[in-house]
Amino acid sequence: MEFRLKPGLLLGAASAATQIEGGELGHNWNDWYARGNIKDRSNPARSTDHYNLWKEDADLMASMGLQIYRFGIEWARICPTEDMVDESAIAHYREEMEYLQKKGIKLLLTIHHFTNPMWFEKKGGFTKVENIRHFLDLVKLVVESFGDMISEYITINEPNVYATSSFFFGEWPPGEKSFARAMKVMSVMTACHIEAYKLIHKMRKEMGYDDTKVSFAHHMRVFDPENHKNLKHRITASMLDRFFQDAITEAMYLGKFKWPIKNYLHVKPGEYCDFIALNYYTRTTVYRFGDGVKKDAPKNDLGWEVYPQGIIRCAEKLYNVLKRPIYITENGTCDNKDIFRCRYIYDHLKTLCSSELPIERYYHWCFCDNFEWLEGESARFGLVYVDYETQARTIKRSGEFFSEIIRAGGVTKEIYDEYVKNQQYHY
Ligand code: BGC
Repeated sequence: MEFRLKPGLLLGAASAATQIEGGELGHNWNDWYARGNIKDRSNPARSTDHYNLWKEDADLMASMGLQIYRFGIEWARICPTEDMVDESAIAHYREEMEYLQKKGIKLLLTIHHFTNPMWFEKKGGFTKVENIRHFLDLVKLVVESFGDMISEYITINEPNVYATSSFFFGEWPPGEKSFARAMKVMSVMTACHIEAYKLIHKMRKEMGYDDTKVSFAHHMRVFDPENHKNLKHRITASMLDRFFQDAITEAMYLGKFKWPIKNYLHVKPGEYCDFIALNYYTRTTVYRFGDGVKKDAPKNDLGWEVYPQGIIRCAEKLYNVLKRPIYITENGTCDNKDIFRCRYIYDHLKTLCSSELPIERYYHWCFCDNFEWLEGESARFGLVYVDYETQARTIKRSGEFFSEIIRAGGVTKEIYDEYVKNQQYHY
């Protein structure tokens, strides 16, 4: 045996509504596309048409043996205007959830994954403290609608990536470039998460449930100085660490606020996550204030370093702040030809399984190839290939490999030789 899965570790996949569902829904990514901002000009309204093909996707997931599935709801779909709830969309999601659960797949629901309805965006979205109530209305609606079926929630996906991509780098809607604004958005989202945490627990308790689990999905990366002997590199790395991830970790987990995160709602210190939800992809090599990549390191198709040890370094860092079970809520890679994804999965899972940390879930990003934000349809992360013209799905070699790992409870020598041995990253 090359390695065995940790006892009790469950394996599955993650997705996000905007990236798979398709549809012209009046949200900020439909708008960003219409304004010509997607690199390959592909339209999120097409995507994988999962909103219509959900049953086929669920059957495929079950046939591959997936045990868990992280998925999202589309805010603009269930609330097309500020005052309207689309009951047919709620019924649709319920049908899908019920079907997946009948297939034995355990669900983790993400409430917000980067996308806002335009009515919320036009009010200033997460840049305004007074808009927190709109997010909480959404949370309330989600728990009222699905609380009897779903016990596990992610309030917000990657607030740091959302805030920096949309308000610092200006690459995502609304395309602003202001450090102060990005920090304000992270602070507002911290308040949203903590209030949502309290609300979900309160509501489900009133509904008679005591198995509620809530967290936010934290995008963490390793920031290593390019040259450890260079003071500027070291200081810049620790600044990036703090601004991008450390300050928000303590605020979101423990209600402990330190600059630059502000405590707008005067929340008290406490524990505001029931599990650690880590999204991990890569490491940043720091020589300036920005995203650098180590020379001669293994890389994926987008030039991101493949650095498996980072998944444990990040998990450990979070565990030191909050001693809770760890869910890897995203991990995966852009490999358009599916020529090194098996090795990527192997290296990351093996690293996880050799750790003493309480790692309970691994959600591969992602199930099907999908709409990869700015990269559109040009960056493929899936275990399943999507032909966007015909919407045909085909399980990739890496998808077969993933199923084999679940079936075998680890990677045997035969599985390794068959899927991993001859695979190499880009250099
Ligand atoms: C996001 C996903 C995205 C993935 C790959 C994560 O940061 O949550 O939505 O597709 O990275 O870029």
